[in-house]
Amino acid sequence: MNILFLGAPGSGKGTQSKNIENEFNIPQISTGDLLRAETASGSKLGEELKEIMSSGKFVSDDIVLELVSKKITSNDCKEGFILDGFPRNISQASSLDNLLNKLDVALEHVFLIDVPTDLIIKRCVGRITCDTCGKIENEYFSDYKEGDSCGDGVFVKRADDNEETVTNRLKVYSEQTEPIIDYYEKKGILHRITGGEDGPERLTQEIITIINN
Ligand code: AP5
Ligand code: MG
Repeated sequence: MNILFLGAPGSGKGTQSKNIENEFNIPQISTGDLLRAETASGSKLGEELKEIMSSGKFVSDDIVLELVSKKITSNDCKEGFILDGFPRNISQASSLDNLLNKLDVALEHVFLIDVPTDLIIKRCVGRITCDTCGKIENEYFSDYKEGDSCGDGVFVKRADDNEETVTNRLKVYSEQTEPIIDYYEKKGILHRITGGEDGPERLTQEIITIINN
């Protein structure tokens, strides 16, 4: 099972990927998480990435393609994978097609999570993530706050979740990522799902139903 989550910053790609990973035991490949791991390592590359990501711009295609190729070709992904945050422009989408062709596998479902823009800023600014297990919560919609214990680790905020950077990320999304919606629509594998204010669980059920059918 090879699936992809598309959507604006804060639309819920990470939340849904984790739920689907738990349901089907297929690993999530989040380029954002992989890049943040590199920035946390303190390497020279990590320092460069930190600067790009905190401005809301995209990291170069070469860097993300290498990270994704390494993961997709690993043993963990033998039964499939869940892509989160890659591809995010036409060039990455076409590189992914080439890679999957070589491996003789195909993308089965692309889920576009559609969320009204006015909800996006609140979702990003309020987001907190466990520094150990990666659990995602929100200060506005849960009882957890930054610094609280998650059980595994501590909830922290992302450096790119301030209003100014989120606004830039939204602009880059509409210029560079939105065109790939059409790319996958033409392939006939795109599902549009709407994420509103009613929490992630209903969406997860909708996704599971589509996958099982
Ligand atoms: P990345 O980490 O992928 O960020 P993003 O695409 O901006 O998406 P987010 O992680 O912000 O949001 P999400 O959709 O995962 O939402 P989440 O589930 O957390 O990338 C970061 C940066 O890395 C990029 O800006 C770029 O610089 C670089 N990068 C990454 N990939 C790249 C690539 N391929 N090429 C080049 N550069 C790349 O949910 C958000 C919040 O909402 C949470 O608090 C959650 O609890 C809440 N929430 C979720 N769903 C619901 C719901 N249904 N109802 C209520 N609340 C909800
Ligand atoms: Mg995410």
